[in-house]
Formats: sequence, structure tokens, C-alpha cells
Amino acid sequence: MNIRDEAVLRELNLYPLWVRRGAPATAETAPAATPPAMESQPAAPVPDEMSRTTDAPQSAHAGFVAPGLPGTSSLDWPELKQKVRDCSACTLRAGCTQTVFGVGDEKAEWLFVGEGPGADEDAQGEPFVGQAGKLLDNMLASIRLKRGNNVYIANIVKCRPPGNRTPEPDEIAACLPYLHRQIALIKPKLIVALGKTAATSLLGRDASLGSLRGAIHDCHGTPLIVTYHPAYLLRSPAEKAKAWQDLCFARQRMQT
Ligand code: URA
Repeated sequence: MNIRDEAVLRELNLYPLWVRRGAPATAETAPAATPPAMESQPAAPVPDEMSRTTDAPQSAHAGFVAPGLPGTSSLDWPELKQKVRDCSACTLRAGCTQTVFGVGDEKAEWLFVGEGPGADEDAQGEPFVGQAGKLLDNMLASIRLKRGNNVYIANIVKCRPPGNRTPEPDEIAACLPYLHRQIALIKPKLIVALGKTAATSLLGRDASLGSLRGAIHDCHGTPLIVTYHPAYLLRSPAEKAKAWQDLCFARQRMQT
């Protein structure tokens, strides 16, 4: 195992790996000793309860309709970026330094969506650049993904909520059409919702994170899976193994 892989596994609480004496190292016993490439079989088995499919369409973008904010549905990238920069549709803009549009490959197959910018993101204008961002980068690395390389990262709201509070429903409603336009332009094969706010906002219904994990949902024609928010994982490191299961599930979905 190289040093980088070991560091990723340590960060995810999956290292050291304990192997029964005499037992050959198998995919199960060495889940990420070599974090598997996206194209290859998952190194760890996806548990049965994570194999259910819900309401996801077979092909992404079949009849994608971006829930509307009049005037967003025909915007190209430069127009959309400008519209977000100029936005004052809710009160969040008045209290933040700058809007945080999103970052990455605009033709990415993978879209990761968080909740909203924190202090570091507000200062730098890029999503997930603080401590939670470092963990997200390691989560990506654990399934051989990299920020900006076939990956796009965005948030439900583009302005930092004061004190990092959860965005209010009216703030989410005001901002969500921008994200839906980003989704329509990117055309990702899979959305990974990071945390409950991202999941419930994109799915348009309330549910617990636990009840949403382990299934493929439908976000207006794009398959969506749910996992824990990296900031939650920093507070609850014991849950990192579950997040890794979700990532393996996501990667497996991308192979089908
Ligand atoms: N948390 C989020 O949800 N998004 C960020 O960009 C940073 C922290």
C-alpha cells in the first residue's frame, strides 16, 4: 500500500486493516488497500440492504425539467454565473462576502452537493475548502476520484448562512433553481447528496438521512444517492465506514 492510500484509509477510519492470520487478503479483508478504480469492481461488497433501487429512471436526463425560477432554464454557463453573482433573491447575500457558485468539471459524471458555504468557502469563493473539504477530498480519493476531474462540487445555497446555520426553506427555494440549472448543464450520471439538507432539498421531500441511504433516488431524471455530510463525519468519525459503504454503492451504480 502506498503512503497516499494509507493516509486516505486513516482519514476514513479504515486503517489499520486487521486480517485473520493465515487468511489471504481478499476484497472483503482489504477493502481499500488499493482503493479501486471507478471502472473496476468494488473492493468491498455492497451490503444487501444497499442494493435496493427506488424510483430512479434507467437513463439519466429522461425528460429533465428544472424546477423553475423564471429566466434560469435557458441560461448558459456564463449567464448563470453572472445571475448567481447578481442574485439578491434572499437575505443571505447581504450577510456573506461573496457567492460560491460551484467548482469542477462542467461535464462531470459525478456531482457532489453539500449544504452551503462555511467561513472558508465564503472567504475563498469555492465549495468545500475547509476541514470538511479536506475530508471530502479524501472521500473522493477513496474511490479514486479527484476534485475537478470528472467531478463537480456545488451546494444547495450559494451564500453562507450566518453562523453556519442550516439554510431556511425560503432560502433554499430561492437558490435551488440555480443548482437545477447547473445539473441540466452538467448532465451528471450521478448526484451524491452530502447530508440531509442536500438530500431532502433535491428530492423535494422530508425524510431522515438513514432512511434515504442505500437506495438510488430520482432527482428530476438524474439518479441520486445519499451519504453523510463530511462536517458530520468530522464530528462522528465512527460513521465514516458507513459513508465509505455509500461511496462504494455509488461507484457500483456508475458501473451499471
Ligand atoms: N459545508 C458545505 O455544505 N458546503 C461547503 O462548501 C462547505 C462546508
